[in-house]
Amino acid sequence: MKITVVGAGAVGASCAEYIAIKNFASEVVLLDIKENYAEGKAMDLMQTASLNHFDTRIIGSTNDYAKTKNSNIAVITSGIPRKPGMTREELIGINAGIVKEVSKNLIQHSPEVIIIIVSNPMDTMTYLTHKITGLPKNRIIGMGGALDSARFKYRLSEALGCPASDVSGMVIGGHSDKGMVPLIRLATRNSVNVSEFLSKERLEKVKQDTKVGGATLTSMLGTSAWYAPGAAVSSLVHAISCDQKKIFPCSVMLDGEYGLHDLTIGVPVVLGKHGVEKIMEIELSEEEKAQLLNSAEAVKKTNNTLAEMNLF
Ligand code: LAC
Repeated sequence: MKITVVGAGAVGASCAEYIAIKNFASEVVLLDIKENYAEGKAMDLMQTASLNHFDTRIIGSTNDYAKTKNSNIAVITSGIPRKPGMTREELIGINAGIVKEVSKNLIQHSPEVIIIIVSNPMDTMTYLTHKITGLPKNRIIGMGGALDSARFKYRLSEALGCPASDVSGMVIGGHSDKGMVPLIRLATRNSVNVSEFLSKERLEKVKQDTKVGGATLTSMLGTSAWYAPGAAVSSLVHAISCDQKKIFPCSVMLDGEYGLHDLTIGVPVVLGKHGVEKIMEIELSEEEKAQLLNSAEAVKKTNNTLAEMNLF
């Protein structure tokens, strides 16, 4: 398996590190536009190989896409991150042009690649990648739900006083503070519904804390988070590389599922060697349906900005 990670900033480098530590890929190419930056990160990471016991080769590249040739999976993390007080949507002006350029370069050298989008606003950047590349919809995946679900499980474990590994839960909808839909109704602690342990009020707080998970960290760190985003992407890459058929909520192109058309938004999917192998249409309550539709409206509104920017 050859994996390319575009953008050697904190998220891209964390993602490369977690992929290497999991030791399932033969090669990771880390690419950045900043002269020698990706090469430096790759060398630093390679010097952890004997300590962390991995055999994955990590190679750095300064914007030379020839080095990414025949990648099986590519992750796009390029662009600018949020600063405290900013929404993800405010990044569209700069990031859309970058994601367009990167995705075109990637498919030129790896026509069979499966692309995972991390750059924000993530749902809209995923939509843009569809429009630019014209790749089949199983091969473009927006990473957001996997991260938001990990943050949901963290908040649930905090409220329950148990390890996150004892908790199961999923967040669907757009990857935005207002658009996320944490599915409290379905969350469990080792198969027991969380409502057996936590009050309505406490669960509402879990929900709100989850939705502002990224913003909370941005205000603490002065820039957006990287460990959980990097780990979430590496889980998606792992599931595809090893044909795991695991379910993750991901931003994928919908064609009538959940009554939605021509937009990418977070819904549960099965990930395997072909990328998105199945979109799961789970039964939602009326309230959850309404929240998903609201979130879809907001994503569509941001997508409309792309048309104004004449990007495709
Ligand atoms: C976050 C960014 C990656 O939520 O969107 O941390």
